[in-house]
Parts: sequence; structure tokens; C-alpha cells
Amino acid sequence: YEVKRRLRRSSSYSSPSPDLQAEAKALRRKEGASGLRLASDRPAATVAGFRRARDSAAAASDMPSFPSSGASPQKQQHNARRRQLIRQQRKSLPIASVEKRLIEEVRKNDTLIVVGETGSGKTTQLPQFLYDAGFCQDGKVIGITQPRRVAAVTVAKRVAEECNDQLGKKVGYSIRFDDSTSNATRIKYMTDGLLLREALLDPLLSKYSVIVVDEAHERTVHTDVLLGLLKKVQHSRSIYANKNGKILPDIQDQSQYFTLKACQGTKIDPLKLIIMSASLDAKCFSDYFGSAKAVHIQGRQYPVDILYTYQPESDYLDATLVTIFQIHLEEGPGDILAFLTGQEEIESLDRLIQERARQLPPQRSKIWTTPIYSSLPSEQQMNAFKPAPAGTRKVVLATNIAETSVTIPGIKYVIDPGMVKARAYNPVTGMESLIIIPVSKAQALQRSGRAGREGPGKCYRLFQETLGIDDIIGFDFMEKPSRTAILKSLEQLILLGALTDDYKLSDPVGRQMARLPLDPMYSKALIVASEFKCLEEMLIVVSMLSVESIFFSPREKLEEARAARKSFESSEGDHITLVNVYRAAKECLEKSKNANAKEKTMEKALNRWCRENFINYRSLRHACDVHSQIQGHVQQMGLNVSSCGDDMVLFRRCLTAAFFLNAAMRQPDGSYRALATSQSVQIHPSSVLFQKKPDCAIFNELVRTSQNYVKDLTRIDPVWLAELAPQYYATED
Ligand code: CDP
Ligand code: MG
Repeated sequence: YEVKRRLRRSSSYSSPSPDLQAEAKALRRKEGASGLRLASDRPAATVAGFRRARDSAAAASDMPSFPSSGASPQKQQHNARRRQLIRQQRKSLPIASVEKRLIEEVRKNDTLIVVGETGSGKTTQLPQFLYDAGFCQDGKVIGITQPRRVAAVTVAKRVAEECNDQLGKKVGYSIRFDDSTSNATRIKYMTDGLLLREALLDPLLSKYSVIVVDEAHERTVHTDVLLGLLKKVQHSRSIYANKNGKILPDIQDQSQYFTLKACQGTKIDPLKLIIMSASLDAKCFSDYFGSAKAVHIQGRQYPVDILYTYQPESDYLDATLVTIFQIHLEEGPGDILAFLTGQEEIESLDRLIQERARQLPPQRSKIWTTPIYSSLPSEQQMNAFKPAPAGTRKVVLATNIAETSVTIPGIKYVIDPGMVKARAYNPVTGMESLIIIPVSKAQALQRSGRAGREGPGKCYRLFQETLGIDDIIGFDFMEKPSRTAILKSLEQLILLGALTDDYKLSDPVGRQMARLPLDPMYSKALIVASEFKCLEEMLIVVSMLSVESIFFSPREKLEEARAARKSFESSEGDHITLVNVYRAAKECLEKSKNANAKEKTMEKALNRWCRENFINYRSLRHACDVHSQIQGHVQQMGLNVSSCGDDMVLFRRCLTAAFFLNAAMRQPDGSYRALATSQSVQIHPSSVLFQKKPDCAIFNELVRTSQNYVKDLTRIDPVWLAELAPQYYATED
């Protein structure tokens, strides 16, 4: 195996390598990690470091998952043992010994920032501490937001188990398209987008006593807007709490942009806010919340050997593949975690591994791959947490989702190609885009740390020790949520007609949009489409755009894939092309249904159809699920689902009315200019309009690699912009 020659140990790697230690130390110094400390200028309080209790933690993760009740005596004994282990494991977490102090700090401060390394117990333990300390009296709820769906689900399951309770009772999760909570739920894990939607409907978030914004370092547009909103909610709740906790009918507070009528007469307590982060800059959050207090919890870690390549890897996918097999054939037991940048990479590597695994000698142990990334359906994400079957080695192919937000048991080897697909948010333009960039030092450290969770581990970094992982973009994500960022989001909502000029939710558009579990622009598109009488087409478009790439183009079969796509292509652009794919897939399903096929056979037929047509089956399946769920929502809202038939001009006009904020115009030099931001952009090669360049188009995604690319385009007539979005465009005359 080639990589072996190229891999060498870092100059010294006694456990952990001094390098790693230095790196960690430097990072901690940045955070002031010598214990509990304040990021503000108040006097610092200190809590000593922690040691882990190794035995119990490692043992418990070998146990099977939580068994149901009504069990045999053996099972009951087994359950009791598992509960005992979980108790021990909880007690051994770094956060356990600071429970009292943390609760004290929460009581004393309305806003508290908690920084602690991954695995210190923030996400699973703190909400339970709050519950035990009485923060759920009067039926109030503790809400914890996660930037990722999978984290909300896995953590809620884990915490329900720790509480020895069924999921959906005391502990539950609520994510888009999936809600496990009940009236009894007191500890509620959810995505930040979901809480944002709740805030639109209940402006004071009155059912919550505490909101924990978790993984705040993973700043998304949602987190930014959420933080701004929470600050405001907290402020108004403190005003009402001071007025004997009653909202008076005559309140005319101009600084409030939400409707308070709905809450009249409700008793309001102050809202506690806790911002949690695994890394770095607590200060920017602290500043944002008026010098809020920050506390730091120290983590625990087994030593990890760090190995680097001698030369830079031009093809990190191939290097990852080679390294996986090298570990499998030469290293002792333990699962492998490889970090990749996205679904496409994960799927193509998965296939390559399957191919190569078939050539393994029969006496060797097998390889079991399991992918995990945000857009993968939740049940499939759960596979990554299952133990590997006997005699196999689990290889988890993950995006940076596995860096901090979820903990996968059993990992001993980490492969880090050093790249990440990052969401870059530009507060000036108000656009979010995806770019592939080298990881930051902090990320590389986080990744290697995943190998040392349960015992000593190894991390293979597929880049050179000295090369290119300075924190080149860190600042982008850690900069404090700016006023501009929040104003931009509000401006966008106003332009979409969701908010009125004085920042109230408009009726009916804003209220309808708030009910749809979608990005505001997509919600708006559905409402517009019902007016244009082409909601059937728009539902398909929105579902198809909500999943990762529908088209599958393996590098070795690019030509075939292109030819296959031809049959769906519309010269009008990608949106109609997606509609064509969806309808063709439905037709395939209908055909086998008419032949009275069973559901399993139908799925098989669809799977085959996808393979023949170079369509990503998983993405398509996911799009179908999303479709049926949104369809349910729009029907409930009383929107009319009708089709525009062959009138593609009508549909393109509707797309223009919906996505007018994303319009691009061809320039004399052949490049494009995004009209809202004046950014220079190119048409992405994956677009059907790449060959036949339109004069003007709307687009749905901006991708930044070496250039700014726009994806998912439809050709439009520029005159339509002023006609259909006069609030934004004016014609020059
Ligand atoms: O949030 P933080 O990274 O500080 O830690 P956590 O997510 O609360 O995890 C604390 C510990 O709980 C982990 O080290 C795991 O041992 C355990 N855990 C688990 O077994 N299963 C989960 N789904 C989540 C956590
Ligand atoms: Mg956490």
C-alpha cells in the first residue's frame, strides 16, 4: 500500500505528541482554560481540572441499546446493570463535578456562556442539571438547539435513556418533518431553525424557562438570527417580568417588533439563555450579550498518535481509500472514522471501498461502511452509531458532522484529508455559500481528538505537517453576529413579504410562511406558486432542491451520465429538468404499481431505474419524502395544488416572482452579475444552462470554490423582474 511509504510519524508523537499538546495548550490559552473563567472583565472564578474514570465509560459503550420493558429476569438484570453503568459514566464526565457551580452561575446570570471540549458532557448533562434544579416548574420547558438534525435526535435518545424514560416523554426532540415531543416533554432538543419558527408564532417563547444554544461555534445564518432574536425576547421578557409578570393590554413598546396581543394576560418569567460552544472564541459571544459571563469546562482525552504524509496529496479521496485498507490490514481492532466534505464524496468513496473490499482475502475480517452526513435520512444516520457485526471493522464516512456535534462510539482511527465544505456567510451580501477549504488548526485538532475518546488512538492526516492549515477562515465564523447580518435577514423577510415594515409577521403571507418547515425563500415560492396555479410543479422543485445532488456523475462514467441526463433536460433550465426527473421517477413507480408489484419490488424497480439513469436513488427517495410532507402542509393551509400543464412561460414567471432576489444578468464580457449583490458569478458546469448561456436567469445556490458559481438556474426574461418584483426592481426609462 502506497500511502505507507508516504506516511510518516510526526517528528515525535509520544502520547499525545508534544505538537498536539502545544496546539491544544495554545488553543486553551486562547480560551483561558485553566479552569472556570470569565471572558468578561469580572473577577475570575476557578474550578480545578478533571480526570476521567476510564473503566466505566469504555465498558458502557459496548452494551447493546436500551431494551424495552416487560423483559425476562435476565433482561431485567441486564437493564439494571446498564443503568448502573450509565450512572457511573455520567458521574465520570468532566461536567459532573461542576454541577452545583454551573447551576449557581445560571441562577446568577441571565445569560451564561459555557465552553467545554467535545465529550465533556455539555449537551447531555446540562439540561438534566437544570431540570433537577427546578427550572421546569409550572410545566416550563428547557429548549436546546442544535445546528444539526442528527445531533438533536441522537442526543435526545441518549438523554431519555439516561433519565430511564421513553423518548417523547420527559425528553424529546423536534426537528423539521419529525417531532417526538409530547405535552409531558420538559427537555426538548431541536434544530435552531425550528426554534426560529416557533419564535415567529410565539414571540416571547413563553413556554421556555431556559434556552440553550448549543454548538454556537458552528455559526449558520439560523444561529445568527436566532441569537439576535433571543436577545430581544430575553429583553422583553425581563420587562414584563418586572411589571409583575403580566403583559398589559396597553403596552405600546415601539422597540418590540412582534405582536404581543397573543400573550396578553400570560405570566412571564425572565428567560435564561445559555450559549454553549466546543471551542474558541467565547469572547465574541460574551461581547454580543453585554459582557456575559463565560465558564470553561476542561475535557479529557486519551493520547492520539498523529501521522502526516510526506508529500501533499493531490487526490485526497484516493489517499483516504488507500489509508483505510492500510489500517484494516495492518492495525489492530478498532473502527475507522474518515472525514470527507460531502455526500458525493462519501458515496463515491463508499463504492470504491466496496469494490476493493471484494478483493480482500477471504480469511481477513470484513469491512462495513456506514455514511453519516446532514442530509442523510435520520434512520440511516443511526446506522453509524450501531456496533459493527462480529468479525467486521466499521468504517464511518462522515462530514464534519462527526467533528463536534455527535460522538460515535468505537472509533480508534481517524483519517483526516484536511478539507472541509464550509458554509460561508457573507453578512454584507446576505448570501450563504458552500466552499471547500482546508480545515483550521482547531478543526484538525478536534478531528484527531475523535480517535482518543475511548482509548489511545491514531490519526492519519493526509497533508504535510507544516502545510496550509493555519486558521485562514476561522475569523469568518467566529466574528460576532453583526447588526448587518441580522438586519439583512430581516430585510430579506420584508422583501419576501413575510414581515411588515415595522417588523411584524404579515398576514397572511408571513403567517403562512412561518407554518411551512422551509427556508423562507422556498416557503414564499410555494405561496406564490399557488397564486400562479403551478403549485404542483413548485412543490416538486422545492423538494428536489431540499436534498443533495439528484444527479449522479461518477468520474469514471462522466460521458454516460451526461447522455443519461439529456433525456430529462429542459433548455429552459435546471428547475424544469428536476421536475422532469421527478415525474419520470413517479412514472416508473406507477408502472410497477399497475403491475401489482409489492412495495419492496417497486423500490427495487426505482433503484434500478435510478442506476440506469444516473440518478442518486437516496437523494430522490429523500426528495419524495420531503415532497409528501410539504404537500401535507400546503393542503392543510388550504393552498390549491394545481399544475400549469405545458405552460412553461407561466412557470418561469412564477420562479421569477419567487426567486427574484437571486437573479443574474449576463455582462458584455460573458460573465454574470448577481443583481442583488453586484457579485460577479459564473454558471456552474453542472447546470443545463452551462452550454447555452442565457441573458438573464434566476438561481438557487451560490457555490464558492475558485470562483463564484451559481447553480440551479432557469432562463428568464429580464423584463419580468420589474414586472413581478416591483418592490425590488425598477425599469430604467
Ligand atoms: O456536548 P459535549 O460534547 O460536551 O458532550 P456530550 O455530547 O454531552 O457527551 C458526553 C458523553 O455522553 C460522551 O462522551 C459519550 O460518552 C456519551 N454519549 C453517548 O454515549 N451517546 C450519545 N448519543 C451522546 C453522548
Ligand atoms: Mg455537545
